[in-house]
Amino acid sequence: MPAAPDTSSHAAFEALRDQALGCTRCRLAEGRTQVVFGTGDPDADLMFVGEGPGAQEDLQGLPFVGRSGQLLDRLLLEEMGLTRESCYIANVVKCRPPDNRDPKPDEIAACRPWLEAQIDLIAPKVIVTLGNFSSKLLLDTKDGITKLRGSVYDYRDRPDGGTVRLVPTFHPAAVLRGGGEPMAKMRADLVRAKQALAAAGAPGTGGAS
Ligand code: URA
Ligand code: SF4
Repeated sequence: MPAAPDTSSHAAFEALRDQALGCTRCRLAEGRTQVVFGTGDPDADLMFVGEGPGAQEDLQGLPFVGRSGQLLDRLLLEEMGLTRESCYIANVVKCRPPDNRDPKPDEIAACRPWLEAQIDLIAPKVIVTLGNFSSKLLLDTKDGITKLRGSVYDYRDRPDGGTVRLVPTFHPAAVLRGGGEPMAKMRADLVRAKQALAAAGAPGTGGAS
């Protein structure tokens, strides 16, 4: 199969990735094995934003490849009929915090331009934020995920005149700890994301934009 033509935005995305892979803007650079930039389709209509790499992610260089990622993959397929390859998956911080501690405010601030540039270049129609860190950051609020989830928010204007929608939901790690109730709520949030994609004229297969 011939390769898709490399548009300037693909080239820009690759250049961004190459730059990020050598980033030393914050202290998390010291303990990482590698930068976990993100994975998936840079033309995706749907983007997920998690917190930061864990041990497996740090070793493999890919986001959400441990237990949380397996749950995310399963719910994505069951509730939205999508695979991870058709979306884009990234994190608030691109390097693993030591001992899986929470990322600190200065680390989140240092890493934010990478995430913002990813969002600008991917130009998704819907962003699902997974857990407190990404939800609070992108919605610019101190409210917690329990309060934020259950609704669809206008995030920002799109270059094509539409609006990027943001759907906050629980982090899959919290669902793994919390069991049935958070699981049911996360499923419902993914259905909200699916409806938001459909309303934006994107049935959810990345690429059409
Ligand atoms: N948790 C996250 O927030 N991100 C990952 O990539 C893996 C686990
Ligand atoms: Fe750079 Fe982000 Fe890694 Fe810090 S966490 S070194 S800002 S890529």
